[in-house]
Amino acid sequence: MAHVTLDPSDEAGWARLGSLGHAMLRDMFRHLQQVRRQPAFVPMPDAVRRRLRQLPLPRQGSALEDVYADFKRDVLPFGGGNLHPRFWGWVMGNGSPGGVLAEMLAATLNPNVWGGSHAAVEIEAQVIAWCRQLMGFPEAATGLLTSGCSLANLIGLAAARGRVLRAHGALEDGVRGLPGEPRVYASVEAHNSLERAARLLGFGRSGLRTVPVGEDFRMDPAALRAQVVRDRAAGDVPIAVVATAGTVATGAIDPLDAIADVCAELGLWLHVDGAFGALAVLDPQTAPQLTGLTRADSLAFDFHKWLSVPYEAGCVLVRDGRDHRRPFESDTPYLTATATGPGAGDTWYCDLGPELSRGFRGLKVWMTLREHGVDTFRALVQQSLGHARHLARCIDADPRLELLAPVGLNVVCFRYCGAPGADESALERVNQVALGELQTRGVAVPSHTRIDGRFAIRAAFVNHRTRLEDIELFVDAFLRAVESAEADGAKACGTARGMRGGQTG
Ligand SMILES: Cc1ncc(COP(=O)(O)O)c(C=O)c1O
Repeated sequence: MAHVTLDPSDEAGWARLGSLGHAMLRDMFRHLQQVRRQPAFVPMPDAVRRRLRQLPLPRQGSALEDVYADFKRDVLPFGGGNLHPRFWGWVMGNGSPGGVLAEMLAATLNPNVWGGSHAAVEIEAQVIAWCRQLMGFPEAATGLLTSGCSLANLIGLAAARGRVLRAHGALEDGVRGLPGEPRVYASVEAHNSLERAARLLGFGRSGLRTVPVGEDFRMDPAALRAQVVRDRAAGDVPIAVVATAGTVATGAIDPLDAIADVCAELGLWLHVDGAFGALAVLDPQTAPQLTGLTRADSLAFDFHKWLSVPYEAGCVLVRDGRDHRRPFESDTPYLTATATGPGAGDTWYCDLGPELSRGFRGLKVWMTLREHGVDTFRALVQQSLGHARHLARCIDADPRLELLAPVGLNVVCFRYCGAPGADESALERVNQVALGELQTRGVAVPSHTRIDGRFAIRAAFVNHRTRLEDIELFVDAFLRAVESAEADGAKACGTARGMRGGQTG
């Protein structure tokens, strides 16, 4: 039987692959360079979707050149939009050209970063050390690079649960061994990854207590304290408090210091979900709101949002490494360290999270930080904050628009509000239609949410390609889309009235 390998079989094969690789790189950088001239989003045509869905399982191989041609035709033009300068939907980073190269290097080396003694383990350790420094965590804190903040939140809460289980001698039985219902506390504005973490960790949906917020959408620490005291009196077992640094809907930063005080007083684990907001520590003006970060027992945040490291790259830091290891470590014989070789060493990432096989996420973070430096990211964070303030000013300056939440960080929620006393359901329809119009025409991609029950257009600024003029262009285009949605609505109303009139007459 012929030898099977995925490598080219001869010199000519390697040369052909090399030229294709160069062509790909040239094409991709050109794509990034020209992205501003392209629509912010191109909906995938049905014919393309059909073609992709009908592709049979490839029994025989094809030339990589042909596969790449299909990629250029059916995949490249129909991205989610987050490369574009006018993409401000959800909270998505844009990636970077250097990140593209880092991904290629990581894939070439292809290490499994579960632990041991090799370069990728050292790189991740270095990145974690930088994160500790950036976030003001002590040197003894441990950390792990994750797929994102959802997993980082889960790991932080697993560590908190482990500490409580241990205190109740319930490590073997888990939450069944606790003397009461386990509870986790987060504000009503917290990200839904926390509810999923609560369910995965056996607390159930009802295990997540939602604490009210004030008018500024920040958690009310007094309400938190009262809820914990009530729950304890009822026999429940508080596991952790989650404070959010940068809520997903409005970018509010919970009062971290006041919440840390409550946790210290009541002996509770403090986890901070700082998915994007934690990186605002780089901005000296915002940093005072984030000093409480350094008092957290665990902190989750992402590199793939504000730092635009290519997806996926998140991080969790845990103050006490024993807490971090407790839910995950094991002494399985085939995973114990050897004295020498790649299986030696004392860094075992598989003891710090639920995954055994892990890619080389550290390289793209390490290279991105080294290529641009923290000072550039400080400037980028400040630039995004400036973008949010600029959009807020444009909205304030136009009586047809209104802000639906204070703009404290990088998120702006607003809507077209029409004339005083305008019908709420008509307003909602007009805002929805105008948003859909801007997205599908590829003018700009903000996303949406609900603020106090009202439909809001939501722009979250982390985009390093955005310029001030993009924001002005967006506001103009939005107002024009609103006018045309209103005109269409009036026409539809007129037709409906006419029809009704005809029917009754
Ligand atoms: C506040 C907050 N927490 C958690 C997450 C989840 O992060 P990820 O998408 O990286 O899993 C997000 C995502 O936007 C977020 O905004």
